[in-house]
Amino acid sequence: MAFPKDFLWGGAVAANQCEGAYNEDGKGIDIQDIMPRGIKGAPTAEPTADNMKLVGIDFYHRYKEDVKLFAEMGFKVFRTSIAWSRIYPHGDDAEPNEKGLQFYDDLFDECHKYGIEPLVTISHYETPLHLAKEYNGWISHDLIGFYERYVRTIFARYKDKVKYWLTFNEINSVLHAPLMSGGIMTPLAELSKSDLYQACHHELVASALATKIGHEIDPQAQIGCMVLSMPTYPLTPKPDDVIAAMQANNLNDFFGDMHVRGVYPGYMKRYFRENGITIKTTPEELALLKEHTVDFVSFSYYVSICETADKSKTKGEGNLIGGVKNPYLQESEWGWQIDPQGLRFVLNRFYNRWQKPLFIVENGLGAKDELVDDGKGGKTVNDDYRIAYLNDHLVQVGEAIEDGVPVMGYTTWGCIDLVSASTAQLAKRYGFIYVDRHDDGSGTLARYRKKSFWWYKDVIASNGESL
Ligand code: BG6
Repeated sequence: MAFPKDFLWGGAVAANQCEGAYNEDGKGIDIQDIMPRGIKGAPTAEPTADNMKLVGIDFYHRYKEDVKLFAEMGFKVFRTSIAWSRIYPHGDDAEPNEKGLQFYDDLFDECHKYGIEPLVTISHYETPLHLAKEYNGWISHDLIGFYERYVRTIFARYKDKVKYWLTFNEINSVLHAPLMSGGIMTPLAELSKSDLYQACHHELVASALATKIGHEIDPQAQIGCMVLSMPTYPLTPKPDDVIAAMQANNLNDFFGDMHVRGVYPGYMKRYFRENGITIKTTPEELALLKEHTVDFVSFSYYVSICETADKSKTKGEGNLIGGVKNPYLQESEWGWQIDPQGLRFVLNRFYNRWQKPLFIVENGLGAKDELVDDGKGGKTVNDDYRIAYLNDHLVQVGEAIEDGVPVMGYTTWGCIDLVSASTAQLAKRYGFIYVDRHDDGSGTLARYRKKSFWWYKDVIASNGESL
């Protein structure tokens, strides 16, 4: 497999899923602190002890040990997010919280100590709760100003430590998980499509603004968007199914189109027209979108789905968004269908559509792991299933590179076990490193290298030759 020499191998996490310390050192409460069941249950009024994210895997206190383990695997890049409410506890505060800023200074310094480049998500499903309660999240135009203040602060502070930035995690997911993704308190069933697309517009404008400000503060900064990719295949070759799949792909690709081309596409104007969707935009916002497009496109990839015009077909589970099941694919224990070739397909499709460098910033298998004796006096997990999953996907990344697609790097999701986003469980493990913590809150928080740890170390050391 011919991976580029400077390929950025690494792993990814998000602050809210690993840091814990939910109310320490001036951090404000964010929406994750009141979502003990992820998107599978109702939010609570206050943080409750059964919420696994309040402690997470205690990365806030143990990051040095964890970064050292990432370095041992040979990581070139580590993707994490900044928890907005560590910097601006309520989101609309006038001044940032110095202790929160200091934490990320220390974390990025620790990464650089080992030659690991941080890749930072500015907003990863962790809107300050106050912005959700007082403003109904991104439905409000005011959020653009609060986000601007936040990004100015972090770009200025970390300009010498962070080269790679992502503006919003899976920006398209706001359509499906409005609270988690957009801090919107109104339940999805009660939200109008106009409000939802207004929230999208505000996020897209904020993303363009971040790209502008980031480049002004540091002309060398590489700023990307991040989308939840979910290649959608027609369930059958029937032309009606092909068109249904095309339309589903368009609705998903709209977000990348806006970030790369900077204009509302014709298919979207038609969709707005035919669905009675009206949104407010200003000439200044439209000019900003057009002018400040991204340097690269990053995306998560877990599943492909099928689409059909046959409305009697039901949808299965998926990465936040489910789809009609593909009869040719196996699925994970959580019902997510596994399709390594879909990754090659989506890399080709995105590059053909946008001609921008691509970065796979999430891919991985959530599975139940068993900690066993390693025969040398320690403990490990024999996760051959995870190795097979990642190996198969990376082989397809290699194929896409052979196809001529410029791929900047690959960060596996949850390089260390963490709390799941959709179900808020720790039982759904993604890591190369096992964390001794369980959904009943028990566990020592000790870290153990899984078999996949050694496998990934070899992949990185050989720059993909061992695949
Ligand atoms: C993506 C998110 O949707 O998928 C991550 O960006 C999330 O935050 C990941 O953890 C895997 O999903 P889950 O629900 O298994 O944690």
